[in-house]
Amino acid sequence: MRHLMSPLDFSTKELEKLFDLANDIEKNPKKYEHICEGRILATCFYEPSTRTRLSFESAMTRLGGKVIGFSDAASSSASKGESVSDTIRIISCYADICAMRHPKEGAPMVASEKSRIPVINAGDGGHQHPTQTLTDLLTIRSLKGKLDNFTIGLCGDLKFGRTVHSLINALVRYSNIRFIFISPEELKVPDYITDMLTEKQIPYEEVIRLEDVMPHLDILYMTRVQKERFFNEEDYVRLKDFYILDTTKMALAKKDMLVLHPLPRVNEISVEVDEDPRAAYFKQAQYGVYVRMALILTLLELV
Ligand code: CP
Repeated sequence: MRHLMSPLDFSTKELEKLFDLANDIEKNPKKYEHICEGRILATCFYEPSTRTRLSFESAMTRLGGKVIGFSDAASSSASKGESVSDTIRIISCYADICAMRHPKEGAPMVASEKSRIPVINAGDGGHQHPTQTLTDLLTIRSLKGKLDNFTIGLCGDLKFGRTVHSLINALVRYSNIRFIFISPEELKVPDYITDMLTEKQIPYEEVIRLEDVMPHLDILYMTRVQKERFFNEEDYVRLKDFYILDTTKMALAKKDMLVLHPLPRVNEISVEVDEDPRAAYFKQAQYGVYVRMALILTLLELV
């Protein structure tokens, strides 16, 4: 039995297979619509979510399976003090596979150690968000036709942003990737990541101004400054609108640059950018369903 805790749990070869399957699901959805009949997915979300929880539920439903779960710790027995370890033992009696989001880093890993069913990390604190990374990689591969030889700018909250940490970890396995980290001083990418890049001799630079690097980027990965990760309101208010991608900044970019964002957005991308053909963040959310369908089939060993 396999779990998914980090994008690195799958080799690049296994990822290629997963993405091929996701693309086949996209093209031939009818072929897959009964494959999970009789199977149940549990979504155990101790933190708010729109995309991740609902795309998992959509994925299982589109595969013919059923879904149970909770979307709020307060409506589960966690509110009475039940541990994650006990909860997953119970969920193992009710479902065939579980997607878990938790504010504590490592909680899905603790669950996987006690589980009798595959557990998928659907985001743990500021640590990892592997299924978002699978979504991001599938989007890039589908729209650019490759996962190597590009310069990617990651912009916004690079300190607490688990999607950013997961994506960097995954991209270092592909050749000729150059990173440009765009953040205010307070939200810089953690040292353990820059140390890892230095050790692997992967080029990166850290800048503050988005305008200066726009012309060099093949992909711009925007992120939200996350209110829920700040300890004081004052810092959040000071930093929340530090970056706003608008049509003036888009005019500086390459004609085929992709703009990605894990969403939700607040103000960091002006709505006027949505009309730009380079804005790929809503397509990205759609790819999230296909890749989660492929992941469920893979972890349940149905393909
Ligand atoms: N991208 C993402 O994780 O969105 P949600 O928080 O809405 O699941």
